[in-house]
Amino acid sequence: MTPLLLNHAGASPMSAAALAALQGHLALEARLGPMEAAEAVAPRLQRLRDDAARLLNADADELAFLPNGSAAFGAAWAAFTHAAPLRPGDRILVGRQEWGGNLATYRMVAERAGATVEVLPCHEDGSVDVQAAAALVDERVRWISLTWLPANGGLINDAAALGRVARAAGVPYFIDAGQAVGQLPVDVQALGCDVLKSAGRKHLRGPRGTALLYVRRSFLQQLEPPWTDVASAPWQQGLRDDARRLETAEQPVALLLALQVAIAEALETGLESIAAHVQPLAARLRERLAELPHVRVRDLGSGPRSGLVSFTVEGEAPTATRVRLAAQGIHIGANGVPYTPLDMQARGLDAIARASVSPLNDEADLEKLASAI
Ligand SMILES: Cc1ncc(COP(=O)(O)O)c(C=O)c1O
Repeated sequence: MTPLLLNHAGASPMSAAALAALQGHLALEARLGPMEAAEAVAPRLQRLRDDAARLLNADADELAFLPNGSAAFGAAWAAFTHAAPLRPGDRILVGRQEWGGNLATYRMVAERAGATVEVLPCHEDGSVDVQAAAALVDERVRWISLTWLPANGGLINDAAALGRVARAAGVPYFIDAGQAVGQLPVDVQALGCDVLKSAGRKHLRGPRGTALLYVRRSFLQQLEPPWTDVASAPWQQGLRDDARRLETAEQPVALLLALQVAIAEALETGLESIAAHVQPLAARLRERLAELPHVRVRDLGSGPRSGLVSFTVEGEAPTATRVRLAAQGIHIGANGVPYTPLDMQARGLDAIARASVSPLNDEADLEKLASAI
């Protein structure tokens, strides 16, 4: 039985070419020696930086590669607060759908410093209320953090509008784009963010163990990493002045080469056309699920929605739905409170089942899912 993959928001499978790049490099390491193999592929690693920059409309020296989304955000954020620690009375503003890992960090450091984490108001459809957010910003706000596309459903927040508020107030703006990169066009200039990150393994179809971190050049000087190494701060040179001040010298070269292929493939297909496949397919899935009397679609938002479709089945825990479908070869995700705690609690939800579609899926897959449910 060929498995039906509908958990691209968790992690999506690599293409044959990306897998070949990864395996090919491991074979080269075994033959030449890993250090020598890395030298042999240096131009392809540079191409990774150039392609990733194109993907985000950034410059190559504004990019760093880290092992996962949380490590990427953490590296930027830790370097920012290391340079200028939080003080009592400082405020951190977050969206209601903020990723739980980011929140866990913010809450911990805020408690330590006597600062507060405040949730930005939402419209009735759950999306961030940008006007109300603007009214909340004052000189005590140290940064604004928005999870653009939440992990628990189809909402697409207006990240660019919030960026205009942050820019006007001169407040650093961090975007968690973990569910956006690879799924829709991302333009850091239009978003107005200082930091943006995403894992490589989700909609980009890169390997696990990779993530992209963007840091605006003018913001880099405000980032002093709490520790450095021979690459981020070479002895005679000191701290690098590009985003690689947040990287380490030792890198998973085979994984990065696979990520390069994944990014090149996404660029080749075009992010507009990926979104044009994914969004109507997800909309169709929502309609199909809404026809089932015992299923409730749980997605927020009233504008265009993402490829993440959240739902619950009456009388069945979402993890049980996931396990039941997996037994039939259909793979979806299920999210509990810890992933998006503020939003789940505000809506009185313990968990949601989540089917996420990609260009690998078609209408027939939706039918299979709906009948299995
Ligand atoms: C919006 C969002 N942010 C962050 C993460 C976590 O990224 P990582 O597991 O790579 O640290 C996820 C993972 O699902 C996510 O959906």
